[in-house]
Amino acid sequence: MGEGRIDLSRARVLVTGGAGFIGSNFVHHLLGRFPDAHVVVLDALTYAGRRENLDGIPAGSLTFVHGDIRDPAAVARAMAGCDLVLNFAAESHVDRSIEAPGEFIQTDIYGVFVLAEEARRQKIRRFIQVSTDEVYGEVLEGAAGESWPLEPRSPYAASKAGGERLAYAYWATWGLPIVVTRCSNNYGPRQYPEKLVPLFITNAIEDEPLPVYGTGLNRRDWIHVEDHCEALVALLQHPGIEGETVNIGAGNELDVLAITGAILDLLGKPKTLIRHVEDRPGHDRRYALDTAKITRLTGWRPRTPFDRGIRDTVAWYRANETWWRPIKQGEFRAYYERTYGQRKVLKAVQA
Ligand code: NAD
Ligand code: TYD
Repeated sequence: MGEGRIDLSRARVLVTGGAGFIGSNFVHHLLGRFPDAHVVVLDALTYAGRRENLDGIPAGSLTFVHGDIRDPAAVARAMAGCDLVLNFAAESHVDRSIEAPGEFIQTDIYGVFVLAEEARRQKIRRFIQVSTDEVYGEVLEGAAGESWPLEPRSPYAASKAGGERLAYAYWATWGLPIVVTRCSNNYGPRQYPEKLVPLFITNAIEDEPLPVYGTGLNRRDWIHVEDHCEALVALLQHPGIEGETVNIGAGNELDVLAITGAILDLLGKPKTLIRHVEDRPGHDRRYALDTAKITRLTGWRPRTPFDRGIRDTVAWYRANETWWRPIKQGEFRAYYERTYGQRKVLKAVQA
């Protein structure tokens, strides 16, 4: 198990959550690099999953299974014959986890249990549990290495920490070939417009206010989704890393106001759209990762400078209004009203 480099050229890969933001970008990326690989997507198509995110994938390269990772029968059907598994399926938005944590615990922890149980029954060569830098909690100084303590502070981060440690336990106990990855904040095409970057791009295009939580000085490391996908491909192939946990980040630390300013500049919109609103409860002030390990292991480095990545991302949302306008009309409207409707405005930015 795990001796040689894993050949992806003809692999059959289960991608759970493959209709979501990162999962769908990963499917496009993997099949772009390995056109003879076959991908099975297992996705429940929650509010965040879009079947059209997989448009353009040749029919012969993709099997789409509409099902839930908490359902053992659906998981067994989707995993049958697969060599490799990447688990992207999750409830993924912090604000929703504050409003209603139950689904997060169900999908992000119990769902991992169902997948890991089935993976034990089948001869899975590698199982990547896609986790997040949010498991470290806020990192006020320095940068979290993989052995940094886990102090998750939101229901989302805590459930992701539970899920990844459960996956690790399957490695420690039964030798299931798990690799856990912890990536920083992704941005790029096909991101559901509840997250900072697509929300602010699409609101700005519509001349709607941009709701900055509190001071706007909260800092994240921002990585373009293509760089994340490339890192996952590198880790999928790399020999002998079962049981390892690996950070993935871009070393590109920016606060919310800097992101907001970049988006407004690219769209030629005024700063008067900014509204400082009541803060998110427990809002983590800073995330930062030490990514020496992945570079040492695989040679991977991020390749997308933020100014190019955000320019391309803004251009994608401008060119793909048919993708996001219907989303913003549907379930999203009620979500937006619940999350922002009653929020106190602390300060509007003057012209
Ligand atoms: P997303 O919310 O855009 O997509 C999640 C996908 O999972 C959707 O297609 C949804 O339909 C599917 N899904 C949800 N519950 C399911 C279930 N019970 N069974 C089957 N499918 C289900 O999320 P994303 O931003 O693409 O994130 C993907 C993964 O990467 C998540 O595990 C997330 O924790 C992790 N991650 C995200 C970021 C980020 O910045 N977005 C950073 C680090 C790690
Ligand atoms: P988000 O995209 O929700 O990612 P996460 O909280 O998982 O890092 O938020 C990124 C940052 O942007 C975070 O500091 C919260 C802030 N933010 C706002 O200021 N306003 C918003 O409307 C949203 C969605 C986020």
